[in-house]
Amino acid sequence: MKLSKKKLRQVAEWFSEAGVSDILADAVQGHGVTKSGISTLAELKEAMSRVNISIKECALNMVFGVGDEHANILLLGEAPGAEEDKQGVPFVGQSGQLLDKILKAVGLDRANVYITNILPWRPPGNRTPTTEEVTLFRPYVLKHISLINPKIVVCVGGTAAKTLLQTNESMSQLRGRSMRIPELSAEIFSTFHPAYLLRSPSQKRESWIDFLNISQRMESLQDGR
Ligand code: URA
Repeated sequence: MKLSKKKLRQVAEWFSEAGVSDILADAVQGHGVTKSGISTLAELKEAMSRVNISIKECALNMVFGVGDEHANILLLGEAPGAEEDKQGVPFVGQSGQLLDKILKAVGLDRANVYITNILPWRPPGNRTPTTEEVTLFRPYVLKHISLINPKIVVCVGGTAAKTLLQTNESMSQLRGRSMRIPELSAEIFSTFHPAYLLRSPSQKRESWIDFLNISQRMESLQDGR
C-alpha cells in the first residue's frame, strides 16, 4: 500500500502525539524491560540474549546468574572474565575463588546467595565496561534483582556500585553504608571487588569486615529488626 504524503504526515503526527517514539526509545534503551511482561528469569534471560550490543560478538557464552533464586543476599559483579566466559557461570575464575573464601569466612556460600553481573558478556580483553554498556544493562539488572527479590544486594566493586546506585562516589565513601534506590526494596551495600583484593591483599581484612557487617545485617533483617 502506498501512502500519500498527507497520510504519512498524519501518521507521523499521530505517532508523536501518542508518544510512540518515546516508547520505542525506551525499549531500545532497555527501559521497556522494567515495564514489560517479563515475569520469570527464563523470560529475562531470553530478552537479554536479544540485546544488540557489540561485546557479545567476541564472547563465548552469555553469563546470566547462579545460585539460590530465592536468596536473601544477591551479589552483583561487573562483567564475566575469561573463565566465566568459558564456563558461562559468574565468578568462577581467580576472583570467584577468592569471593568463595570470603563468603565462607562469614558463614555464607554460593548455594545460599545469588550471583550475577551488570554485563552478561565479557568485554573484549577484559576491558572495563563503557558508560553506554552499563547504562544499557541497568534496567535488565533491576529486573533481574526484582525477580530474585533479595533483602540485601552487595555491589562487588566500583562498576556495580556506581551503575546500580547511579553515583560517582568512590568505594571508600560507599563501603559500610546501607543504601537504597527507589526502584528496589532491598538494602544495598558496596564492597571491594575480589580482583582488587588480589592486587592489594592488605585490603582483604576490610573486605572481611564488610561481609561480616552484611551478614549481621541479614540476621537482623531475618529477626525483623
Ligand atoms: N569479575 C566480575 O565482576 N564478575 C565475574 O563474574 C567475574 C569476575
